[in-house]
Amino acid sequence: MAPKIAVLTSGGDAPGMNPAIRAVVRRGLSKGYRVVGIQRGYAGLLSKQFTELEIGSVADIIHRGGTMLLTARAPGMFQPENQDQAADNLKAEDIEGLVIIGGGGSFRGAITLEERGIKTICIPGTIDNDITGTEVTIGFDTAVNTILSAVNKLRDTATSHERIFILEVMGRDYGYLALAAGLACGAESIIVPEIEYDLDEVSGRLLRGINRQKAHSIILVAEGAADVYEIKKEIRDRIDAEIRVTVLGHIQRGGSPSAVDRLLGSRMGAAAVDLLQEGKSALFTAIREEKIKALPVKDCFDAASPFPEDLYHLAHDLSQ
Ligand code: F6P
Repeated sequence: MAPKIAVLTSGGDAPGMNPAIRAVVRRGLSKGYRVVGIQRGYAGLLSKQFTELEIGSVADIIHRGGTMLLTARAPGMFQPENQDQAADNLKAEDIEGLVIIGGGGSFRGAITLEERGIKTICIPGTIDNDITGTEVTIGFDTAVNTILSAVNKLRDTATSHERIFILEVMGRDYGYLALAAGLACGAESIIVPEIEYDLDEVSGRLLRGINRQKAHSIILVAEGAADVYEIKKEIRDRIDAEIRVTVLGHIQRGGSPSAVDRLLGSRMGAAAVDLLQEGKSALFTAIREEKIKALPVKDCFDAASPFPEDLYHLAHDLSQ
């Protein structure tokens, strides 16, 4: 009987998860494994939502956002009795290795399963790009592009009305998504949790723009940094301008994965299977200088993701 491995997606979905699932399944089959898909993340692991996947099960998904395996947040996985149950459910199915695609919270589940004798390999899939050790996570690039497309549209209406727009983007407690999108769209100001902001300075920049007949301005705010409606009020107290707020929300999590995310998902999915075959465990796939590396999962909790302050200052210098 061929050995079995399984794959699940957990936490918030991210464009590129499907290419990663496809790669796990197809690489797994080509290496002689049977591959089981676990639906609804750890919740499905606890309630045994297992389906065997064949080569055709992952056809026609490489271009689709979301995750064909469905996902869920499963706070129950923090309880030791559930962690025991999850490991027992895998052992009862003779599943020797598990690929977990998700963010930092999902990685914690991998450690608990590893401690219970299950080999685990994690793949970073989150639009937040907040996993220490990898330069980028699956889903980040697509989400940045989604924000750019939204800003392009906002600029049309902002220019027509000569307004200032404040745009809130996701990222949880981390500002990298706002920073990357802000630099790429030439936002006039970027507000992130990692860097103290000064609304006198932000308002001064806006005013200078207005005084030189600038048609509009965009302020990009990371959701973890500040309340966008409060920022609007504070700026209105300082300058006389029309300001509108847009909260982009879950639009950022959807959409067909970009080429970058398809490549990343495909490479990391295949690498995860290779690592399981080599008998490795408790590692996650990371990309550094164009190469896929395997790093200990526990190390990604040790340090906060380094925030690229140089990019922040570059964005600040380039948009006046
Ligand atoms: O972690 C991804 C993310 O989209 C964050 O940016 C955001 O704060 C959170 O998930 C939203 O979670 P939910 O979809 O559970 O509301």
